[in-house]
Amino acid sequence: MKIGIDKIGFYTPNKYIDMVELAHARNVDPNKFLIGIGQKKMAVADVSQDAVSMGINATLEYFNEIEQKKVGLLIFATESSVDQSKSASLFVKKALNLHPAVRTFEIKEACFGLTAALMTARDYVRSHPHHSAIVIGSDIARYGLNTPGEVTQGAGSISMLIKADPRILTINEGHSAYSDDINDFWRPNGFKTALVEGKYSTQVYLDFFKHTFESYKKEKNWSTQDFSALIYHLPFTKQGLKANRLAIQDEDKSVQDELSASFEASKQLSMEVGNIYTASLYLSLLSLLEHAELAPNSLIGLFSYGSGAMAEFFSGNLVDGYRKQLALEHEEEMFKRRQALSIDEYEKIFTQALNEPEDGVEITSDEVPGTWYFAGTQNYVRQYRQVK
Ligand code: HMG
Repeated sequence: MKIGIDKIGFYTPNKYIDMVELAHARNVDPNKFLIGIGQKKMAVADVSQDAVSMGINATLEYFNEIEQKKVGLLIFATESSVDQSKSASLFVKKALNLHPAVRTFEIKEACFGLTAALMTARDYVRSHPHHSAIVIGSDIARYGLNTPGEVTQGAGSISMLIKADPRILTINEGHSAYSDDINDFWRPNGFKTALVEGKYSTQVYLDFFKHTFESYKKEKNWSTQDFSALIYHLPFTKQGLKANRLAIQDEDKSVQDELSASFEASKQLSMEVGNIYTASLYLSLLSLLEHAELAPNSLIGLFSYGSGAMAEFFSGNLVDGYRKQLALEHEEEMFKRRQALSIDEYEKIFTQALNEPEDGVEITSDEVPGTWYFAGTQNYVRQYRQVK
């Protein structure tokens, strides 16, 4: 049975800062951010957008087009959790009015979380072939003002429908996993921003990539040239570029050209949005689908990395007609509606979002009608509403 991704929804908040502005404010040569890091813009979530509201908005992009009764599993992957106990997925389930028989929970392993959800959903569909699963990755990457990590922040969510006979990507059997208990990036309880050993984290990422990619090819008896595209978790696009260079360094020029071109296509959305942790690899996938011309059945290799650290390499094949499943117009509108923030505005929003709003205080949203947002807490119960 073929199982995989049937629908992809994406949401990113309506505010961003430009990397050139940020570079000027931090007294850095803009080319460091544009070329050295490889980012153009960075999405900024104000206090009215959190992991839950972004996850609802991403899922809504396709939710009304699917057979909702068949959804038997809803998994929410995040490292920007809004509660120590209750799953973010329950807020989503209520907002979407999803039936009560769904099995639903939240999972965490840094940026690897959505891959864990995807693989769990794949196994679920294998044993429940007439059911489908929704997996959501939703995160706000925050390192702090004036830190080396600041330029690698971002905000957004990807939601995917996983089912049999999917219309976008079939996931191949087998994978190569690698994990180790290390401290490259973590966020202790009570911390609103991540702690990170930046340079160390970038090296571990590459080491884990080499390991999983090589053992995957060995297991499958495949070579690099069998892939039409290799895509990556993109904490910032230069990181993926370095992994891609490692992957293709010993290949013929034609293979290097093909895999460089597909990598370029896969990084376009991340350059505009920044790191969205759990959802970042799947933003690369969406970007590839939108920006590359790929033949039906093309083999795509996916590298998932979550700090702490856990990595996995796996692959999928593109389904004929996949482009028809993309919501290109909706996405264009989403980018058009974004407002550029000044650095002062960004710093104010950033500082405000670090504190939980006072209980009982209503939060409003300047989003477009229909968008879900976090409206504050009532008796410490989080309230989510739709912009009228
Ligand atoms: P930094 O101190 O800015 O690094 O920190 P840098 O001084 O080495 O500069 C970065 C690059 O810019 C270098 O290029 C410079 O040469 C270049 P590279 O040597 O890497 O090729 N550069 C310039 N290029 C052009 N023109 C110029 C110029 N000046 C300098 N004028 C760092 C960078 C990424 C470490 C920092 O931003 C950071 O700590 N970020 C957060 C950590 C991170 O993203 N790690 C990635 C791997 S871990 C991961 O992916 C997991 C994660 O997503 C979390 C999770 O799993 O949940 C983070």
